[in-house]
Amino acid sequence: MAPRYFLPYGLHWIDREDIDQVVSVLKSDWIVMGRKVEEFEEAVCKYVNCKYGIAVNSGTSALDIAIASLGLKKAEVITTPFTFVATVNAILFNNLKPVFADIQKDTYNIDPDDIRKKITAKTRAILYVDFAGHPCDIAEIKEIAEEHDLYLIEDAAHALGAEYRGKKVGSFADITIFSFHPVKHVTTGEGGMCVTNDKRLADRMRILRNHGIDRSALERFDSRHSWSYDVRLLGRNYRMTDFQAALGVSQLRKLDKFLRKRRELAETYTKKLQGTPMLTLPVEKPNVKHAWHLYTVLLDPMIDRNGFVSTLRSKGIGATVHYPPVYTFTFYKKRGFKSGDLPVTKDIAKRVLTLPLFPRMTKRDVNRVVDIVKETIGELHD
Ligand SMILES: Cc1ncc(COP(=O)(O)O)c(C=O)c1O
Repeated sequence: MAPRYFLPYGLHWIDREDIDQVVSVLKSDWIVMGRKVEEFEEAVCKYVNCKYGIAVNSGTSALDIAIASLGLKKAEVITTPFTFVATVNAILFNNLKPVFADIQKDTYNIDPDDIRKKITAKTRAILYVDFAGHPCDIAEIKEIAEEHDLYLIEDAAHALGAEYRGKKVGSFADITIFSFHPVKHVTTGEGGMCVTNDKRLADRMRILRNHGIDRSALERFDSRHSWSYDVRLLGRNYRMTDFQAALGVSQLRKLDKFLRKRRELAETYTKKLQGTPMLTLPVEKPNVKHAWHLYTVLLDPMIDRNGFVSTLRSKGIGATVHYPPVYTFTFYKKRGFKSGDLPVTKDIAKRVLTLPLFPRMTKRDVNRVVDIVKETIGELHD
């Protein structure tokens, strides 16, 4: 029988104010790629302290145009296999070759030492992911990029509001991308954004999201402007709507509150689960501020992880797995992707699981998860 109570692993929080903002745009005459989208881009740039923002219809689209804007041909891009497939797909959309580097044992982020080992004459970029909201070892990655003249793209889909050495994630790489999917820190339904301090890349991304057209609809609309335009790149239609942007602007005002709530809940988990046998808890390195998109724990190899997750779910706790490594899925296997020499990824991926964490959760919810996790470890271990 399905449990009466089911706590999902992530959930958006949309209030009356958000809804009013969306409705007011819907009642207006301009609902796609207008002033609200610009306002949202400016607001995100201000928050992460970056110059140019390019809003798009998903984090996946943001990754696609970020890579496309680099104009790479027949190149290799080093990335992590321990991510959502979108990270790797964006490399494939652009006819480039993803090359996997292993992850670190503590944060599950890409390991700079292994990046060095995976560099070849064809490497042109590193696409690193701040797993669960914990920033990567960015200084080490930047050093490698400078030594080998590589572009850096930061997939910060999990890390809006995270900090590295006292600075918000958003201006470390050549381009950083965010996702505004409902489980993320702020939502626009679907949505994403690229941010950069490089005007040339920003211009290219702006064109790429809009069919390759060199002038926006706002720039061609009224009698003061000409209707004409040119198509300069092979573009996509990744435009964001203004009602999504209105939701984004309104959500962004609450981001700091959401981050505080996530941190409080994560700290409560850590306090209550500390010392539980068979369980390793997530870390936060001293030079970072974790954005706590996910709270993941690691099970002892003695416990069957999949059985454990199923048992939690049958008890109403929406535990899940982030992530089966990309190379384990059918599509990639068929294309000849191999796990290769990635011992840490292989080990972590078998043992990791995600517990529910979202700002609307209460401490009571956390206590309930903690009790059920402990009880289940007891049952499966005895
Ligand atoms: C690490 C990572 N990158 C990219 C994406 C893609 O974002 P979106 O779902 O907005 O397309 C996700 C989505 O979950 C993600 O987790």
